[in-house]
Amino acid sequence: MNKTITPLEYWSNVWTEGVIRFHQAQYNSQMTAYFNQFDLTNKTVLIPLAGKSKDILYFLERGAIVTAIEFCEQAVVDFFTENKIKFTKVGNCFKAKNLSFYACDFFNFHTDTSFDVLYDRASQVVFGKNDRPKYFDHVLNMVTSKSLILLFSVDHAGDPDYGPPFKIPKTEIMEAYKNKGITLTEESTTTEVGSEKMQAAGINTLITFTLKNPNPEITLTQS
Ligand SMILES: C[S@@+](CC[C@H](N)C(=O)[O-])C[C@H]1O[C@@H](n2cnc3c(N)ncnc32)[C@H](O)[C@@H]1O
Repeated sequence: MNKTITPLEYWSNVWTEGVIRFHQAQYNSQMTAYFNQFDLTNKTVLIPLAGKSKDILYFLERGAIVTAIEFCEQAVVDFFTENKIKFTKVGNCFKAKNLSFYACDFFNFHTDTSFDVLYDRASQVVFGKNDRPKYFDHVLNMVTSKSLILLFSVDHAGDPDYGPPFKIPKTEIMEAYKNKGITLTEESTTTEVGSEKMQAAGINTLITFTLKNPNPEITLTQS
């Protein structure tokens, strides 16, 4: 990241320039494979640092009540426009049936209740080592040891200061969750070739890993 701008200025530029390599045109297949097993009807779902992710639609289709947070207001507006969803705007919250999409810094989003489900794709990688404890603290105040949790994150062989995506050892995430009484397990790991930008920085492989809470309270679809 260019050290002369703040992280939020960096993300503003990403959205203004429209180079959003992280955005997926389809539902994330690992996400659907995992959550299809559970009955999400009327379950509350937290999606931090949501971008304009299509994955939000998946949870709405499954009957869940979704809260998403994204700093860049244009991304939030794009989500509604591109998916042809009507919304009303109350303060910084864009509302549609079963969806509250907040256009704000995640650290300015607060709630008194905890969520049944946390879906976290490519959020942790936004934060460098010094900022991650603050992120873990904040997100972990919104879940319990019974929440259904699916996290995707990455590690790579690059410099610890290279990012985003910042490299994160999975043990660091597991430790942060364990401190809050949540024991995550690793579901899978894949190794991919890094993006052209990463390759230019000497990073040729990207390790993507998936972590989940093995003891959620939510019932299985077929149970
Ligand atoms: C790597 S993208 C991932 C987006 C989404 N999770 C996805 O899977 O497509 C990270 C997103 O976090 C947003 N972001 C960065 N810092 C943020 C913050 N402090 N609060 C809220 N959103 C933030 C960026 O604007 C960007 O859209």
